[in-house]
Amino acid sequence: MIPPACPTPLQVAAARGQLASTLVRMCGIVGYVGPQQAGDVVMEGLRRLEYRGYDSAGVAIVADGELHQRKKAGKLANLSAELSSAPLPASTIGMGHTRWATHGKPNDRNAHPHTSHTGHVAVVHNGIIENFAGLRDELESRGVEMSSDTDTEVVAHLVDESYERVPADHPTRLREAVRRVCNLLEGAFTLVITHAAEPDTIIGARRNSPLVAGVGDGEYFLGSDVAAFIAQTREAIELGQDQICELHRERGITVTTFDGGAVEPVHYTIDWDDAAAEKGGYDWFMLKEIAEQPAVVADTIRGRLTDTGGIALDEVRLSDQDFRDITKIFIIACGTSSYAGMIAKYAIEHWTRIPCEVELASEFRYRDPVLDRSTLVIAISQSGETMDTLMALRHAKSQHAKILGICNTVGSTIPRESDAVLYTRAGVEIAVASTKAFLAQIVACYLIALHLASVRGVKWGDEVAAIVDQIRSMPDAVERVLDTMEPVRTLARTELADVQQMLFLGRHVGYPIALEGALKLKELAYLHAEGFAAGELKHGPIALVSEGTPVVVVCPSPLGRDSLHSKVVSNIQEVRARGARTIVIAEEGDELVTPYADHVIRVPRCPVLLAPLVTAVPLQVLACEIAAAKGLDVDQPRNLAKSVTVE
Ligand code: G6P
Repeated sequence: MIPPACPTPLQVAAARGQLASTLVRMCGIVGYVGPQQAGDVVMEGLRRLEYRGYDSAGVAIVADGELHQRKKAGKLANLSAELSSAPLPASTIGMGHTRWATHGKPNDRNAHPHTSHTGHVAVVHNGIIENFAGLRDELESRGVEMSSDTDTEVVAHLVDESYERVPADHPTRLREAVRRVCNLLEGAFTLVITHAAEPDTIIGARRNSPLVAGVGDGEYFLGSDVAAFIAQTREAIELGQDQICELHRERGITVTTFDGGAVEPVHYTIDWDDAAAEKGGYDWFMLKEIAEQPAVVADTIRGRLTDTGGIALDEVRLSDQDFRDITKIFIIACGTSSYAGMIAKYAIEHWTRIPCEVELASEFRYRDPVLDRSTLVIAISQSGETMDTLMALRHAKSQHAKILGICNTVGSTIPRESDAVLYTRAGVEIAVASTKAFLAQIVACYLIALHLASVRGVKWGDEVAAIVDQIRSMPDAVERVLDTMEPVRTLARTELADVQQMLFLGRHVGYPIALEGALKLKELAYLHAEGFAAGELKHGPIALVSEGTPVVVVCPSPLGRDSLHSKVVSNIQEVRARGARTIVIAEEGDELVTPYADHVIRVPRCPVLLAPLVTAVPLQVLACEIAAAKGLDVDQPRNLAKSVTVE
């Protein structure tokens, strides 16, 4: 058996027997220095990052040479309430954290920031300090008492000690203290650190975990992603692996490596609209994001077709010859992104004739996949930070495969480590369950399939252009679906809000849509929902059907390929004969299904391979409405997080 390319932080921690007491997390982190009230800026940043985790939250500021902090288990609202009853003093420097716990209780004690025993240093952290147990033992042997169960706390103590050892006249004393500590740490971490004696300086450090810096007018920001400061500035700096970033009120931003070497910062402009991080009159971000889908589909296509019928990729470090040499494609992704990958497989194999496999990123490298220089691995990720996908990507790279990233977040890790990138232009997606990014990913996959077909000469330029024209008509089609969603809302609220389980069936590209429909319902409404390939139904799942079981069927076009439509109609009859309540998503004008459907949801006629762009939408609306009818938090479902930066 070939071992994985490199052990994961969790594997290493588990091997060292440290996991039981380690609190592993992936979270939202904010840092600020500037003239505004730091506590307010940090809370605003946390509000925009809460989708990254909402098990606990905390904020720390420096005022009059002292650290002040508040932290609270539960959603950010709890911390806001705490701040209202015990406001923080005015300050121009601050940090904050919103946590998604995977190990250990999300209680007040374990919430970030963590402070050193002297009360001088505060730290927020995302990741795992793998060697924390040894570091903690050393600290305890020096008489330091721990006040939490976290690995993070050791960093606060170590920085405090390190600061005392750096000469007091050192021009960048805190940065130097943090640099020395970073070299002691193993694992994955983003750290933001402040010291009570340094009211103008805040330090960020990054290894294997996301961190970006924002540059304002005399003010500077740190965030797990740009959403943290998008309301304040559009200018951002990418921070690379093993880099330290010093934010200083006068000196501005200085980036160095963990070795202390100077780094020329790479600036970029965030083109997301600030309004994207606001609900804009909708009850939920998810409703707004569903409504944005026609524009997102249009944006993802716009300007990407070259004169020769090829597709302009955003970042290409692969030649046309590289694309011609490909003999096999793997798509790796997680969750909703993996369903976009399943849809892509149909398009890629049909349009390019290259064999394509789709694999859950978390499984990929553990089964010893056969990869070589002629393999293209397409990594699909909204966030660009999903650790499972990143680790699968790195494994593929170690086997010399070429990597193409499809990603929504500019400057995130997956695109940076890919050989070529196509960005989905969905804009910031706040709701934890993905909607508009999913549609954008599907479109991006079509474009890549067409690019491959064109570069490899499998399709002529005019054939590619004809399909691109069909894709161009899809924003209107999605708009028409959105215009007809009222009956779906009514159905969700009147008939489906109290059901215990729901089944989803589909064939061909309708199959991944059935899986996505079921996932949406699980995520949002906490319902037992399963998606099946409709043909597989008779091999077991049909036993789940009893009187009144709601079964949603994604029906293909009657004009589609071969006998797919009639096969699905037969499947509808099979479940109906066993008492199912059938809810059928069918093309406008398809009357063949009507006799077997208790409810028909109409979608516009479109080419078979493009149909997922319209059939996904009613399922998003259905899940959203059922969750809302049950009084659940649509944007922040329990136990989930948007960006999963642990394996
Ligand atoms: C999390 C989210 C899902 C998402 C998945 C993959 O589980 O809750 O909505 O589909 O991660 O995320 P990615 O950012 O890689 O697309």
